[in-house]
Amino acid sequence: MTDALIIGGGSGMGLALARTLLAEHLDVTIAGRSADRLAAARAALEPAAAAPGSAAARRIRTLRADIGREEDVAELFDAVGPVEHVVVTAADVTGAYGRSADITAAAARSVLDVKLLGAWLVGKYAAGRVTGSLTYTSGINAYRPNGSNTIVAAANGALASLASGLALELAPVRVNVVSPGWVDTPVWDRLGMDKRAAFADLAERLPARRIGTPEDIAQAFLSVLRNGFVTGTVLHVDGGHRLV
Ligand SMILES: NC(=O)c1ccc[n+]([C@@H]2O[C@H](COP(=O)([O-])OP(=O)(O)OC[C@H]3O[C@@H](n4cnc5c(N)ncnc54)[C@H](OP(=O)(O)O)[C@@H]3O)[C@@H](O)[C@H]2O)c1
Repeated sequence: MTDALIIGGGSGMGLALARTLLAEHLDVTIAGRSADRLAAARAALEPAAAAPGSAAARRIRTLRADIGREEDVAELFDAVGPVEHVVVTAADVTGAYGRSADITAAAARSVLDVKLLGAWLVGKYAAGRVTGSLTYTSGINAYRPNGSNTIVAAANGALASLASGLALELAPVRVNVVSPGWVDTPVWDRLGMDKRAAFADLAERLPARRIGTPEDIAQAFLSVLRNGFVTGTVLHVDGGHRLV
């Protein structure tokens, strides 16, 4: 039995979650598209896996999979077998930010293919294999769209409905969504914007008075994994962003 499969665990929040779960004595399998990213993540995680008396290498497994491709998802779950917890943090929003008039249908489709259909494929193939919980990651833009992230917001918003449906289909397996606010992860470095200025401006307005860390979100995933009475819901971990 695999303790936890984190799809998107090669960076950002998924990587922070992997580190958290290893510290909690769970073994982790992380999946993503890039072999290089997975190898770097494994190297970064090895110190956290080296608990006294355990062989670090046996506690971390990496598997390549693109959840936009059904055959990859099927192969991933065949390789993983029975698994207690599945968390999906995977997303690729390349080319999907801007006004809708400037976004190509191909870029929009590719967001939906991974973030929504990929999430559904994970639910489809996790059925009968996952025993504890399945948790998705949406995001604040579903609740506070800004006019330049419409398709990403729509994909994130739809995850709440997906989780509600799957919570019924997969019961008693629990299916939930964690919805982060702005979190300082590598995704921001790829957006080509002045991250520092944007973070400083938002931090001043947020009730929490700061931007989120990957560890904030990892702790939220952990609480959803551990609480056997939480299912079919969205946990907002956004520093109060929906209030401002
Ligand atoms: N950072 C924020 O401020 C923020 C705010 C709200 C919501 N979110 C959401 O939170 C989640 C995690 O974001 P993050 O900031 O941690 O992002 P990140 O650092 O870019 O991590 C995303 C991971 O997903 C993997 N991935 C992308 N496409 C994939 C696919 N088709 N199949 C399998 N794996 C795939 C990537 O690895 P490969 O490229 O190697 O596949 C990467 O390791 C995302 O769903 C994001 O939309 C982020």
